[in-house]
Amino acid sequence: MAVLQTELKPLHIKGRRLLPIVQGGMGVGVSAHRLAGSVAALGAVGTISSVDLRRHHPDLMAQTGKSRDKSLIDNANLVALDREVKAALQLAGGQGMVGVNIMRAVAEYAAYVRQACESGAQAVVVGAGLPLDLPELTAEHPGVALMPILSDARGVALVLKKWMRKNRLPDAIVIENPKHAAGHLGAARIEDVDQPHFAFPVVLESTLQVLHELGLEREKIPLIAAGGVNSHEQVRGLLDLGASAVQLGTAFAITEEGDAHSNFKKVLAEAKPEDIVTFMSVAGLPARGVRTPWLANYLDKEEKLQRKAGPKECTVGFDCLHQCGLRDGIAKAGQFCIDTRLAFALEGDVKRGLFFRGSERLPFGSEIRPVRELIEFLLTGEVSPAGAWERAAA
Ligand SMILES: Cc1cc2nc3c(=O)[nH]c(=O)nc-3n(C[C@H](O)[C@H](O)[C@H](O)COP(=O)(O)O)c2cc1C
Ligand code: SF4
Repeated sequence: MAVLQTELKPLHIKGRRLLPIVQGGMGVGVSAHRLAGSVAALGAVGTISSVDLRRHHPDLMAQTGKSRDKSLIDNANLVALDREVKAALQLAGGQGMVGVNIMRAVAEYAAYVRQACESGAQAVVVGAGLPLDLPELTAEHPGVALMPILSDARGVALVLKKWMRKNRLPDAIVIENPKHAAGHLGAARIEDVDQPHFAFPVVLESTLQVLHELGLEREKIPLIAAGGVNSHEQVRGLLDLGASAVQLGTAFAITEEGDAHSNFKKVLAEAKPEDIVTFMSVAGLPARGVRTPWLANYLDKEEKLQRKAGPKECTVGFDCLHQCGLRDGIAKAGQFCIDTRLAFALEGDVKRGLFFRGSERLPFGSEIRPVRELIEFLLTGEVSPAGAWERAAA
């Protein structure tokens, strides 16, 4: 597949010249090797989500599907991550960049970071918590780009100051707006997600100011704006505001190459604005998804479940989170097993799954299209007839 070209300024990370488009990591299994590798093959940044990837590997599921042995499950997930990174790199054929997204909030965060580096990932992207220890964890792999996901200038300043004491800088920073993004959101409470300081013009300006105050040239750390991006005009607008690239999640999840079941894509693609809700996740952060039958039923009972919250054993013996509202009995957090629910969604179980989705309309409405058309549309505002890019590049 030919790499796409653009008039827009390229994104530079670790000496690579990339399209200014990033496909965000999406768990469980929504962005695995097929999506991330296909995005990278076009010259953009593709990201595998590291969470519970064994679910894409029938042999690993045969060993662990019914197991309650945490170390067996963790080991299967590291094997799956290794396979997925290698398969994505092969699909990318040396183009673009293949990263691995790892949530700071998962118990096996450090093991996933090490495995990603050892398997050849070109970037490690960390969200859902502050990755203050990422420089140490990756010290033996200086060629791997480090990319924290943050939501405001305060978080950026904190990470930068800590990392600068360790003589390391992020290779890029993803700035995710909790008002529009999908999945876990970078705000402490649901009421905070649309605070004005998260708006792109404010956060980009204040982050550039932080870089200036710390004596860092703005070109040194590219900023990648994520959350609700759905048009070429918006891409241009964000680049004009000082971003070096944009990151999209939902729109990539529903592409032909997206690694989830076609029912999963349909739920996201066909959701109406009134179906999209913000609620508290078991990880203790607000999250955004589609009000499918399970979520509607859970939200009806949430208050009651929270009143009854109390410590118990992990329902599946996986202990996936450092802190889990259900297992640890944290009343203000969610009271459901997120691993089980996201796995149902990946398999296309519309009744029982949890389907993360951003708040905004999608670039092609409810149409499922190939990754190439999505990236082309973001770069140019148009979609050329099939094959035109390849012919132009030949
Ligand atoms: C189904 C789904 C799962 C996601 N899972 C993760 C995840 O595991 N880790 C993460 O950092 N972000 C996750 N995200 C967020 C995306 O990477 C991206 O930053 C976000 O969706 C951008 O907003 P948009 O969906 O409006 O484009 C997820 C998004 C979706 C749609
Ligand atoms: S109960 Fe909590 S820790 Fe255990 S698998 Fe479910 S979400 Fe993870």
